[in-house]
Amino acid sequence: MRSTFGDGIHVAIIMDGNGRWATSRGLPRLSGHRAGADAVRRTIESAPSLGISVLTLYAFSSDNWRRPRNEITGLMKLLGRYLIQEADRCVANGVRLEAIGRRDRLPPALIELLEKTERKTAAGNRLLLRLAIDYSSRQAILDAAAKGGDLSQHLGPDVDLLIRTSGEQRLSDFLLWECAYAEMVFTRRMWPDFTREDLAAAVEEFQRRERRFGAVTARTA
Ligand code: FPP
Repeated sequence: MRSTFGDGIHVAIIMDGNGRWATSRGLPRLSGHRAGADAVRRTIESAPSLGISVLTLYAFSSDNWRRPRNEITGLMKLLGRYLIQEADRCVANGVRLEAIGRRDRLPPALIELLEKTERKTAAGNRLLLRLAIDYSSRQAILDAAAKGGDLSQHLGPDVDLLIRTSGEQRLSDFLLWECAYAEMVFTRRMWPDFTREDLAAAVEEFQRRERRFGAVTARTA
């Protein structure tokens, strides 16, 4: 499904390396996540001027429940705090927030904040920010199939560019269906160090690629 939001590209990011960033500095892993939240803020601010109209960020996978309890609690608090701090800035910058993933296992306070921020930012038309929380792509596909009809209608827009930081090169159950024709850019940069320049470089790399969608002629899309 092509995105109906704006005429820019859909970029999805697997924000990896927070833990390694922290431990390499002798800091607790949660410090890495806090620094990662600053990188999230920078990325959202930079996205529209780089031609991005949909941004999907992998904030917490359904497999992340297997992490130590204190890291999970810290991440949930960090997400809540981020929503409280950034909601007004989102409204001012035309950012519309939408959470994807399961909600029923999240702390009730976070569910409330997500819903409140979704309502508050609903009129945003510059950037659609999709936060994947307790997200599993396999589960999303199963849920979509159970609804019947055209699967794409129940899933998100096609991803144009997928970025993963920290040198890892795998999808980790993220947007498997939506990434069918995504261009992929892997960078060794740890997520907390990710800058506007890194995002711009990834978008430039994407623009240099020839996307054929299985056909033989150049630039069919
Ligand atoms: C992966 O790094 C990162 C996560 C599992 C959490 C992502 C969360 C943030 C970027 C911060 C908060 C997000 C928002 C939207 C405010 P890792 O911990 O797996 O790093 P490692 O592989 O080096 O251990």
